[in-house]
Amino acid sequence: MKIDQYLLDKYNAPVPRYTSYPPANHFSDKFTSSDYETAIIESNELNPQNVSIYVHIPFCKKLCFYCGCNKISMHNDEMIKKYIETLKIELHKVLKLINPYRLLSQIHYGGGTPNAIDSKYLGEINSIIFSYLKTIESPEIAIECNPAYLDFQYIKDLTDAGFNRFSIGIQDFNIEVLKTVNRSIPELPVKEIINIIKDLNPNAVINFDFIYGLPGQNSQSFAKSIDEAISYNPDRIVTFSYAHLPTVFKAQYALEKAGLPSPEEKIEMYQNTNIQLKENGYMPVGMDHYVREDDELYQAFKNNLLHRNFQGYCTRRTTGQVYAFGISSISQFETSYFQTTKSIESYIETINKDSFPVEKGYRLNNNEIIVREVIEELMCNKKIDLTAIALNFDISLDKLKSHLNFDESSLQNFIRDGIINYSNNIIEISEMGILFIRNVAASLDPVYKNKVMNYSKAV
Ligand SMILES: C[S@@+](CC[C@H](N)C(=O)[O-])C[C@H]1O[C@@H](n2cnc3c(N)ncnc32)[C@H](O)[C@@H]1O
Ligand code: SF4
Repeated sequence: MKIDQYLLDKYNAPVPRYTSYPPANHFSDKFTSSDYETAIIESNELNPQNVSIYVHIPFCKKLCFYCGCNKISMHNDEMIKKYIETLKIELHKVLKLINPYRLLSQIHYGGGTPNAIDSKYLGEINSIIFSYLKTIESPEIAIECNPAYLDFQYIKDLTDAGFNRFSIGIQDFNIEVLKTVNRSIPELPVKEIINIIKDLNPNAVINFDFIYGLPGQNSQSFAKSIDEAISYNPDRIVTFSYAHLPTVFKAQYALEKAGLPSPEEKIEMYQNTNIQLKENGYMPVGMDHYVREDDELYQAFKNNLLHRNFQGYCTRRTTGQVYAFGISSISQFETSYFQTTKSIESYIETINKDSFPVEKGYRLNNNEIIVREVIEELMCNKKIDLTAIALNFDISLDKLKSHLNFDESSLQNFIRDGIINYSNNIIEISEMGILFIRNVAASLDPVYKNKVMNYSKAV
């Protein structure tokens, strides 16, 4: 399916990624440590009841030029030790406020590179969490790993510490692409890493992260990398569209210099990968994830029950309110969000003064909670049944539309361009329309309409 240049010109504009609603750049700096403490206590009475924990490990041994994550160059051991000691204090401070009858459904370590630090720290952090909370049956204990820093002993330490989901950042198997983007090349072949993980825990879930749209990539070369991935049989494959925002992530200018693929080339990579993965039994869920048909994420997607939080896609079983630890991390409660400072020095100093280093936050009003539901439905299940959502919130359809930036003529526009189907108050994204799903979400979002912000482009 060829994408018309007309559609690219019209829709390839900066739009939010909607990993949360509202997006984090709408948070305000009016929130304090005591607001956060109150929100934690109040969250015990809110839904969902499960507890989901995010731990941010910001350190990286080498910085990749494309990276849009909150990371810092590896410090000396002393700084890492101090950071982990502070994380432990933060964990005790928050966990003692959580009702111990609530069950832990998910722990997710992100970064930065969680596996860049001594594995003993990760085990110690997990033990603290498990000492406060009982878990649901088969909780997800997940970690993002750079394969360049994995070996047998490290993987064994991770499985002993309870990790059962491994998100491996491949990005591309092409060595030239990795060199251009300044990424460490793994010494241990990825196939061997997979074998070690599965030997130690046959039930472990392995996910590969790829990025398309980097210098040196084209449709043929990327297809080769995806073929290699398929041959290793991971449980899930994620193909992120490269998000280019050099005004915020300055190192990305180096990639402009090296020569980025055009939007047309990116679309070709997206479309070819989509066909290639489907032909090999990987079903698309959400925006960029591919999983096997028997995967719980696919089952949830098929039944319009897929959710997402800052940790990624999840099911009702694993959805919990998110309590986040470490710099730049975002706690995500039913009615509010809180983000911790991005400065490691200020983080360490404030926690050690017995306060929470809250940098920003957001409190959602009742209308925004409804808008969030609509946008999450679209981003996860590619479909919004407006009547069902109105019923769920016990409001009329007209009231629901008045909370959204709902405009029939803009929907007609998307219909004419083949991006959505719309009938009986059900908006459904077409197969081609998935490329512009963020544009459809933005068109319904009153916050996007009222505030100009810095976002990466749709494609
Ligand atoms: C915190 S990183 C992964 C962990 C580990 N540091 C690594 O590099 O493997 C999370 C993922 O975000 C993705 N990512 C980072 N920067 C990106 C960007 N600018 N556009 C799209 N995806 C990006 C990469 O696929 C990366 O694996
Ligand atoms: S992609 Fe991973 S290793 Fe590379 S800079 Fe970002 S967080 Fe660090």
